[in-house]
Amino acid sequence: MTSSQDFLRHRELCAAIARHDHAYYALARPAISDREYDRLMGELLGLEQRCPDLATPDSPSQRVAGRPLSEFRPAQHAVPMMSLDNTYSQSEAREFVNRLIKLLPGETLEWVVEPKVDGVAVSLRYENGVFELGATRGDGTTGDDITANLRTIRSLPLHLLGPDAPEVLEVRGEVYMPTAGFQKMNASRVAQGEEPFANPRNATAGSLKQLDPRSVAARPLAIVLYGVGETRGSFAPTTQLELIQRLAAFGLPAPPRTWFCRTMEELLEAIDELDKVRESFGFETDGAVIKLNDLSLRARVGATSKAPRWAIAYKYEPEQARTLLKSITIQVGRTGALTPVAELEPVLVAGSTVSRATLHNEEELARKDIRVGDTVIVEKAGEVIPAVVGVVMEKRPADSVSFVFPRSCPECGTAVSKTAVEDGADAGAVWRCANQDCPAQARGRLEHWCSRGAMDIEGGGEVLVAQVVKSGLVLDVSDWYRLTIEELSGLERMGRKSAQNLLDGIQASKSRDLYRLILGLGILHVGDGVAKILGREFEDLDALAAAGEERLLSVEDIGEAIARSVVDWFSDSRNRRLIERLRAAGLNFKSALFQARAAPGPLKGKTFVLTGTLEGMTRDEAAALVESRGGKVSGSVSKKTDYVVAGAEAGGKLEKARKLGVKVIDLAAFRDLVAER
Ligand code: IVH
Repeated sequence: MTSSQDFLRHRELCAAIARHDHAYYALARPAISDREYDRLMGELLGLEQRCPDLATPDSPSQRVAGRPLSEFRPAQHAVPMMSLDNTYSQSEAREFVNRLIKLLPGETLEWVVEPKVDGVAVSLRYENGVFELGATRGDGTTGDDITANLRTIRSLPLHLLGPDAPEVLEVRGEVYMPTAGFQKMNASRVAQGEEPFANPRNATAGSLKQLDPRSVAARPLAIVLYGVGETRGSFAPTTQLELIQRLAAFGLPAPPRTWFCRTMEELLEAIDELDKVRESFGFETDGAVIKLNDLSLRARVGATSKAPRWAIAYKYEPEQARTLLKSITIQVGRTGALTPVAELEPVLVAGSTVSRATLHNEEELARKDIRVGDTVIVEKAGEVIPAVVGVVMEKRPADSVSFVFPRSCPECGTAVSKTAVEDGADAGAVWRCANQDCPAQARGRLEHWCSRGAMDIEGGGEVLVAQVVKSGLVLDVSDWYRLTIEELSGLERMGRKSAQNLLDGIQASKSRDLYRLILGLGILHVGDGVAKILGREFEDLDALAAAGEERLLSVEDIGEAIARSVVDWFSDSRNRRLIERLRAAGLNFKSALFQARAAPGPLKGKTFVLTGTLEGMTRDEAAALVESRGGKVSGSVSKKTDYVVAGAEAGGKLEKARKLGVKVIDLAAFRDLVAER
């Protein structure tokens, strides 16, 4: 039973956490330390564990609690979500303004200019202040219900702030991915051998389409809100500026800047100024939106079938430049992926000199028919990596020939093959060199081994790696540990002092924790996050090497592609020999992460499988409880399972447990078992 005291404290905690989320994520002005925040969240989780009926979907503990779906449910928009007409020039903008002047004779028109955020349009429905439903635009009338995915966005309030939330408030806006987060995420995808997303908008759309909210939670999404759909109750702003202010007061993130304009001249100035400052927003914008400020005048002009008459988008030219494509080189990455790269006559685009641009893959190259000797158009939209968007055909030399993508690795001559890479925009389009001894791959692996997140060997960057590979001193990562000071100081531009520093760094790397070593091995699909999961799960490298696919699949968050890739890696005899050389060199194979988790507790040695809906508790929380008491959680039932915790609607796992005679307990029994003694 929940006492009224618990209930009130819960309300207080939820409100405090919501306030701090808003200060941190929407205003970027945190009011308390991370530690203090974690303390509040810890207290909330503890309270909800004691009183499960408090863990309602609008609790901040439930942001990532949604379960994987097999498909999205349709969501009907009470007020249709419309699009905007586009304009590309000042004269078109003038036409738009003049049209409205004619439609509203005698009225004084005032305007608002807002950034046009380059993301994915969404509608959020709040009922009595609680976030109940979130949907994509879809065809404007019906979209996808992506409520669980949207809940994971920290700048989206689960509760409207303040006491006067209307009965129904449908707000409209844009989900986007800030540039910094986008770049970090792409870098880690590349490190894991996955295809990077082409731009933040694709990354946002791809993220919102995930059926498992847990994968969405890992994506750095944010939201901005600039309009409303259906409203019921006390919400009646009279202008756009007031509307944005009222939304912001509810804790709904507002556009970073708006301009109020009375004349055409002021409008054009605002558009220009926005173009100058938009780089500083930290997310991509592709234009300005001009809106009539007065909402009652808007109602008078109405809309066409597609777009309102009272607003228009003014699209900025993406920054482009023309330059000569001198050659196309093929880069071979650590995982053997072949990427065509345009080597350009250096040219200034959006404030920086561009001399190389990615051409993505063979299909892209062929589609755009880009040839050496062409004058090409290079584009830099926002802060994203430059790309070649097209060819100036009039300038094509008469004797130019199509680029022939190599069928063998340009570094080692091995025939290349295509393997599908899931979850990327370019799935299946990547050629790979399968030769592990390929010098390009070897260099990539050696650099990766030394990188910050892996074995963290300072000085082990591109230049050194190229030198030691060329001189034949280092062939694989175990050779780092055989280098002598004489060998190193014999290298060009390497003094005795730097050689000694490097050796000290190499020596220090021997005691790194297991997960860093696992990451350093460069197994396909095993990036930073996966390496940590494996480090927590396995006692030492030998245990990981001995794990079969099924064992790996039993680990939370390890899917088939990863499991297969790990098993393949360890079953390669050359990799096994490498492991033995690393062992002989004295590297630490033990996992401190595993030790920390397996510290003695009342459930030490016990394995749990959680299945069905656990009322008032997420899977992650239940698992955390088991682990905090020394037990383990596995994803599949076997004879070794000690307990199957069966919640509502438990299915196959429950059946299997009964077949194998594994003990099945309900939620109440589980609570008793994990309760502090
Ligand atoms: S107002 C009734 N304001 O751009 C239509 N839209 O190309 C209301 N967008 O569908 C749209 N930033 O998804 C509006 N400040 C902003 C916007 C914005 C981005 C998106 C929105 C719209 C699309 C049109």
